[in-house]
Amino acid sequence: MRKPIIAGNWKMFKTRDEAIEFMYQVSESMPSNQLVDSVICAQAPMMRCLIKRQGQNLRIGAQNLCYEDQGAYTGEISGQLLKSYNVDYVIIGHSERRNIFGETDETVNKKLKAALRNELLPIVCVGEHLEERENNLTNKVLTKQIKGAFADISAIEMENIVLAYEPIWAIGTGKTATAEQAEESCAFIRKLIKEMYGLVVADQIRIQYGGSVKPANIDEIIAKENIDGALIGGASLDPEKFIYMVNAAVKK
Ligand code: PGA
Repeated sequence: MRKPIIAGNWKMFKTRDEAIEFMYQVSESMPSNQLVDSVICAQAPMMRCLIKRQGQNLRIGAQNLCYEDQGAYTGEISGQLLKSYNVDYVIIGHSERRNIFGETDETVNKKLKAALRNELLPIVCVGEHLEERENNLTNKVLTKQIKGAFADISAIEMENIVLAYEPIWAIGTGKTATAEQAEESCAFIRKLIKEMYGLVVADQIRIQYGGSVKPANIDEIIAKENIDGALIGGASLDPEKFIYMVNAAVKK
């Protein structure tokens, strides 16, 4: 069925030496990519050193890209450049990008198109704020974000997209959604994809949960029917924890 996918989001952490040390401990310990997709998404200048050391079963991803392929866009990073470094994945629309750097559903959609154009595998993030959950607006917010992100995206293009459900109140707070809450929202997202693209796409699209995932809770989360993996911040920085969590996904 759907192959699980565990992606570490290193955010703005680790220096080059620290990244190399991580790769030294992790890359040869990854289970086969027939069983699980294991990904590390890091700051762009680390790409070369990570890709050199990624080994057989670990893939490398970026955390952002520009919606244009080239041009006068000082400080931006193009999908074309990422592809030329053999980067495989790119996170798009992470809540930190939306909330701190002003990304909108419209820019997420444009970045998604840039990723697909450059044959990068997008991990598209959606998720609600705490007040939205408390006011029963979670499904409404998810619907708006997903319809916005996937405007003009075809069913064929959906085959290469991973979705990450990340409730903002659970990110970096130590406050994980319960496995039931995570499953409920991931099931809602799958139902929405079914309405938009039909059963085949809804059945095959991979949906990750993200927000304070760690070795202590991954087994329970990954066991849920509609959760196909995790997008992991803090706990992915630690080699032993990352290895544990990738192996937990293999057991799914
Ligand atoms: P966290 O971050 O695991 O540190 O909560 C998740 C994310 O931001 O993707």
